[in-house]
Amino acid sequence: MLEHAPKAPLEAPRVEGAASSSLKHESAFLHVTGAATYIDDMPEPKGMLHVVPGLSTKAHAKILSMDLEAVRRAPGVVRVLTAADVPGQNQVSPVHREDEPLLATDRVFFWGQPLFAVVAETREAARHAVRLARIEYEEMPAILNVAQARENGGELVWRPLTMERGDVARGLAAAPMRVSGRVTMGGQEHFYLEGQAAWAQPGEAGEMRVWSSTQHPSETQHLVATVLGRPHHLVTTEVRRMGGGFGGKETQANAPACLAALAAELTGQAAKLRLDRDDDMMMTGKRHDFVVDYEVGFDDAGHILAVDMVLAARCGWSADLSGPVVDRALFHADNAYFYPDVRFRSEALKTNTQSNTAYRGFGGPQGIVAAERVIEEVAFATGLDPVTVRMRNFYGMGSRDVTPYHMVVEDSISGQIVSQLVRECDYETRKAEIRAFNACSRHIKRGIALTPVKFGISFTATHYNQAGALVHVYTDGSVQVNHGGTEMGQGLHTKMVQIAMREFGLEADRVRITATTTGKVPNTSATAASSGADLNGMAVLDAIRTIKGRMVTFAAEKWDVEPEEVRFCADGVHIGEIVLPFAKLAWEVYFARISLSASGFYKTPKISWNPETGRGRPFFYFAYGAACAEVSVDLLTGENTIDRVDILHDAGQSLNPAIDIGQIEGGFVQGAGWLTTEELVWDDFGRLRTHAPSTYKIPACSDRPRVFNVSLLENAPNREETIFRSKAVGEPPFVHGVAVLHAISDALASLDDYRTCPRLDAPATPEMVLRAAMRLRGEPV
Ligand code: MTE
Ligand code: MOS
Repeated sequence: MLEHAPKAPLEAPRVEGAASSSLKHESAFLHVTGAATYIDDMPEPKGMLHVVPGLSTKAHAKILSMDLEAVRRAPGVVRVLTAADVPGQNQVSPVHREDEPLLATDRVFFWGQPLFAVVAETREAARHAVRLARIEYEEMPAILNVAQARENGGELVWRPLTMERGDVARGLAAAPMRVSGRVTMGGQEHFYLEGQAAWAQPGEAGEMRVWSSTQHPSETQHLVATVLGRPHHLVTTEVRRMGGGFGGKETQANAPACLAALAAELTGQAAKLRLDRDDDMMMTGKRHDFVVDYEVGFDDAGHILAVDMVLAARCGWSADLSGPVVDRALFHADNAYFYPDVRFRSEALKTNTQSNTAYRGFGGPQGIVAAERVIEEVAFATGLDPVTVRMRNFYGMGSRDVTPYHMVVEDSISGQIVSQLVRECDYETRKAEIRAFNACSRHIKRGIALTPVKFGISFTATHYNQAGALVHVYTDGSVQVNHGGTEMGQGLHTKMVQIAMREFGLEADRVRITATTTGKVPNTSATAASSGADLNGMAVLDAIRTIKGRMVTFAAEKWDVEPEEVRFCADGVHIGEIVLPFAKLAWEVYFARISLSASGFYKTPKISWNPETGRGRPFFYFAYGAACAEVSVDLLTGENTIDRVDILHDAGQSLNPAIDIGQIEGGFVQGAGWLTTEELVWDDFGRLRTHAPSTYKIPACSDRPRVFNVSLLENAPNREETIFRSKAVGEPPFVHGVAVLHAISDALASLDDYRTCPRLDAPATPEMVLRAAMRLRGEPV
């Protein structure tokens, strides 16, 4: 049989655990034994100092005076830092807007803004001393949410974006049926298990080393350099791993790192900052909450003809990443659907609250929630099943394949995925069964919903779509891989190990991924936009292929074979008839004075995007999936349980199915938490009242679906040339949580016999569910 097998694109026999198989997470053993090192676990040098920031207790005010005398005199305090102590620029804006002072000067813009920082011998001493500050404020009117921002002139932190195709006014006017409405959705705290943490160590001649729990070591390096007034080459940032980031450490890690570096700079000693959980929640930005106004025109067969939407977001006090986040909401306000005439407009509103930031999906989930509400409206208005409406509106061929940003969808597989999931999870039968159940159940109502996701992969800021790597083969045949990506639990490093295993024919224990450091791979992008493996995987592959090329040339010459006869296999390197251990060949290559080290580089092809015209191909490709959720809602308490979830997800030719399924499970649960239990509450003074797990409810193990079936779409290699034809998997599955919101909505709809769209907003907390139930029963709310 073998002679008929197609020529393998890569070497065989394959190594157990290499790319495309379920190798366990490279730190799994360390994670479960507690031996994995996070910043606060690193052994402290003698004289380590501890930094704690002092935060504003007004949402918007002039600072009349800051009396820090008592703070300075408190036991253990070594120094108190204020804006005046900053030797470089007092600026940490990640987008060069100069709108984010590291420490406040004469004004504060939100409750929780850092005013000063205490440097003390112990963390306890610093925490105690912070409270002794006496700040005099003159309060100014604070704008806290979208409604207030609009009432007060609607100041924006970013240019508005319009995406338009066709003629929306004409399309709406011509449509036989029309509905308009509003959907609102809340923000979300990242709740990484490891809070923001950084440690700075001064070196000689102005050097500064910073260990930071950051998704973006290069940006942390640059901002530390900015604050210290140094060139980049004197600052090195390193991160071994994060205890979760979820977007919350894409920019929000910068200020803590800068404060630690400032303390180290001014005292000449090592300084560490690990934010208290309450301070972390008060200080750092969250997912953007949105208010979306929509109008949809359609026909009685459920075909959508025109959609007009305005998507407004609470951005907080500074720009941060709000611009690209709000843009991405627009990029996903079509989800998987073709709208013949369409217009989306954004409003990135400035408010006196934490500066909202990246969070898994980066605005995409908010756009998709709006798109799915539109589907639900059409379904209720036409009396069709929502899944039927979805199927009738997916992107298709010919004239139905262009997005509102004029990118052609070349591979819409939503219909295929949804049909397969409908079949496999027995949607129709279960739906009928649930309706029968609801007819005779008074207090418990069950609901089911099946929602798709289509998610664009690439940074929309085109220049971020590049990556570097540095690979060393040592003379014993062991390999060190450095790349620009960071590990936050998502398994990026494991996938990089697998690429080296597959290419060199090595076992996992022969490949070590170093901590990410700006000293080894410079000018990197944040590990974000789900593109960690796509970008860094290709850069790692590039470096490895360079080294392999040299090894092959050497071996072919020395043993007088053709280069094609040199193959890297699990049992060693095949050179014609002979098989040499990899280590032996490495030694031979070294002995012949040939370099066993190489850097690699990658940039994503094909992409471009012009926000001025609202046109381009911002995404290299799309990742797809669908989820079906079944819930029970208790109408006495408003609580729900997720009884069953089935997910079919497209990870292309998965680099590691076990890790990808873990990402899908985790993403789903996080998405469901956002839309059901997680609620951020600010009081009228702009003070966040939900700043601890006692008041902010993230999903617990017991909240996971009772039945949870996750599968990867099979035989679905990426049609684009990504790393081994895989697809990015970090963010898209977050969107599957939307199925839960719609299942709860379906349960509530039973209250008036499925005649009225429940218009359930998120988060669907018990209070929200009970209010919606009252509305549907015609009771005053
Ligand atoms: N998974 C874990 N366990 N922890 C995380 O912090 N972050 C998510 C996702 N999955 C995250 C995670 C986010 S927001 C992104 S953008 C991607 O992982 C980033 O990693 P990747 O690009 O390597 O997928
Ligand atoms: Mo993820 S929100 O792109 O860090």
